[in-house]
Amino acid sequence: MSPIIHLYRELHSKPRVPQVSGMSLSSFEPQHLDAWLELFRCSFAQMDPPVRPWTREDFWRLIGSHPWWRQGQAGQLVWFQATGQLIASAILGQVQLKSWKLGTLHWLMVHPRWRRQGVGRMVLRAVEAAAWDQGLRWIRAETHRRWTAAVQFYQKQGYRPATLEGDQLRFHPRANFKG
Ligand SMILES: CC(C)(COP(=O)(O)OP(=O)(O)OC[C@H]1O[C@@H](n2cnc3c(N)ncnc32)[C@H](O)[C@@H]1OP(=O)(O)O)[C@@H](O)C(=O)NCCC(=O)NCCS
Repeated sequence: MSPIIHLYRELHSKPRVPQVSGMSLSSFEPQHLDAWLELFRCSFAQMDPPVRPWTREDFWRLIGSHPWWRQGQAGQLVWFQATGQLIASAILGQVQLKSWKLGTLHWLMVHPRWRRQGVGRMVLRAVEAAAWDQGLRWIRAETHRRWTAAVQFYQKQGYRPATLEGDQLRFHPRANFKG
């Protein structure tokens, strides 16, 4: 069984982005990269299993090489608190299937000190709103099966585990899903 699971949500209208006081949104700019790498390090180092910290080269190889990034079709969203510290981020990509286009969510993360305050939900809704504006009606989140906080977070936000078979989504009965 693959350790990676995919969870999907259909958008029926443009999601409303809840506000968290003292936070402001910015699009990713190259000068954010070092702060993003530091956020990545503190967000994923303590996970079980952990993700090794990324270098600048990793970022450009693993994110910057996607066609949606190079063609500026991605939504790269970062959130700052009032003091200017980067506290959360997510990246929206897309995949063209035969008859429809899927929005893909990458590396949603919230700084450990800011968790359970609604920031993750805010970032997720902002990604979905950006996806809606790009004409994307389905979003796919990806996570590790053993990252139970992330699995529970996504399920709470209406995402359901499914497998893409060709152009079709096959949803897993909840009873068969081991988070
Ligand atoms: C998953 C993550 C993004 C959630 O961010 P967050 O800001 O803490 O989430 P929110 O405060 O918006 O939580 C919304 C709801 O999700 C659920 N949830 C969030 N964290 C949870 C946890 N640790 N355990 C169980 N449920 C959780 C809860 O229902 C929560 O609502 P509540 O606090 O009112 O109970 C954050 O824990 C994180 O960055 N984790 C490390 C990176 C990661 O796993 N990224 C996703 C996979 S790539």
